[in-house]
Amino acid sequence: MPLRRGAGSLLRHTVTPSPGLATPLRPGLAISAAKSTPSRLQSMRLHATPAPRAENIPGDFDPHAITAMDKQTPPKPGADFNVVIVGAGNINFGSDEGPWNHSFRLEHKLGPRLKVVALIDPSAARADAALKVKRESFVLSAYKDTIVYPTFPDFVKNMKPEQKPHAIWVGSPPAFRGREEQGRDLEKALIEAFPDVGIFIEKPVSTGPVDEAFSIAERLKKSGNVVSVGYMLRYLKVVQKMKQILEENNLKVMSTNARYIMAYEHTAKLDWWDKSQSCGPIVEQATHFCDLSRYFGGEVDLDSVMAHSLEHFEPAGHLRKIPVPEEKIPEDERIPRITCATWKYESGAVGSLTHAVALHGFNYSTEIDVYADGYSLRLVDPYNAPVLYMRKPGDDHEEVIRYGNDDPFFSEVSNLIENIEKGPGSAPILSSYEDAVKTYALTWQIRNKSEESVRKMGKKK
Ligand SMILES: NC(=O)c1ccc[n+]([C@@H]2O[C@H](COP(=O)([O-])OP(=O)(O)OC[C@H]3O[C@@H](n4cnc5c(N)ncnc54)[C@H](O)[C@@H]3O)[C@@H](O)[C@H]2O)c1
Repeated sequence: MPLRRGAGSLLRHTVTPSPGLATPLRPGLAISAAKSTPSRLQSMRLHATPAPRAENIPGDFDPHAITAMDKQTPPKPGADFNVVIVGAGNINFGSDEGPWNHSFRLEHKLGPRLKVVALIDPSAARADAALKVKRESFVLSAYKDTIVYPTFPDFVKNMKPEQKPHAIWVGSPPAFRGREEQGRDLEKALIEAFPDVGIFIEKPVSTGPVDEAFSIAERLKKSGNVVSVGYMLRYLKVVQKMKQILEENNLKVMSTNARYIMAYEHTAKLDWWDKSQSCGPIVEQATHFCDLSRYFGGEVDLDSVMAHSLEHFEPAGHLRKIPVPEEKIPEDERIPRITCATWKYESGAVGSLTHAVALHGFNYSTEIDVYADGYSLRLVDPYNAPVLYMRKPGDDHEEVIRYGNDDPFFSEVSNLIENIEKGPGSAPILSSYEDAVKTYALTWQIRNKSEESVRKMGKKK
């Protein structure tokens, strides 16, 4: 379930950007309110930070790069760049639920070179509706010759040589990918047909067995295709700043503590409330925070995961504002209201996650704390208005760091295109398929352990 963002969500945030934030950041400039507490955020100011950047280290990322689409140099005309888009839904074409919309970012990255040669979706009506909007707009040239196919093999069968894609953008439901079974094995079909094409794949990587997802990861590694998975929060500048602080100070993360408190009142997709359809809120939604936890904490010892949940049939689990007829979902498939998990990282550090289906209204409350010797790095609201509160040695106050005009969705799109055009490694790809499968494995382990604990307590068979 995507994060729902209400119309006024940003306005309601207590932090308002200083006028300086409208100005694109120059390299080496960070925004910070020295010794600020949240109530003193209005006093944020620009100041120079000594931002040593090891630009040539693979995987390094410049937290000061300009990522907003409207601040980019306009894309130049040139050779066609063919894209096949898989899935005509929200992630690829946008919705009022959030800022995601991959096609819009592709248009701004590639400009007149973008040619969407095919749109794959079993719902021709949905695909046609998405194309109609595009064809009535200034991006007509990218979509005027797009052909809709119900399946990827149909495209391969009918493709003319000049339609060979440079990139394939996958935003279909995870139930149809990441597996060995025919019809759910999209990746196999992609690399067989196009062993040299760049591939973007949305999270979560699958809804099937974790070991099958790992074997798909092996296939992709062997194929040599450049692959990027949509854990876009990794591309946030504040997240990269956190990585930079940890690296530059040679810190070992001691603990991560993630909290994902969703506002459920307007979550009106019945499937989201049904574990048999969406795999439940940890696999589907908290996956972003499990991924961030791993990004900071490292590999998780899966055997160490412990978890408890508050279930729908327990007295504290009654929710008054569920907007769907939950009684239509079999009792065993109804989602937990709360899931709390802890685990050990291989480094010995401890991780924890609380996911809650609890708030009313629109705005979610999402935070992750990362602790290291002398340091507290507290990332707040990474989806809407990311802020990093940092406490470091020598100062009992929290410093506040935020960046204006950051667009992690654009960064992940842009970086994959760079890799395709200029060669692997030309821009950091921050989420590989194999790494994304490890996050998938963690989310399933949390779900399984919480269900096991419900059974152990005799609450359920
Ligand atoms: N990174 C993020 O923040 C974020 C946000 C939203 C969605 N997502 C992810 O994107 C994926 C899609 O979500 P969505 O919100 O766009 O869903 P959606 O239901 O809006 O759209 C899915 C589309 O895929 C089509 N489809 C179904 N089966 C297909 C198949 N076999 N091949 C091709 N198309 C098929 C459907 O007809 C529909 O048009 C999910 O994995 C979701 O978790 C990620």
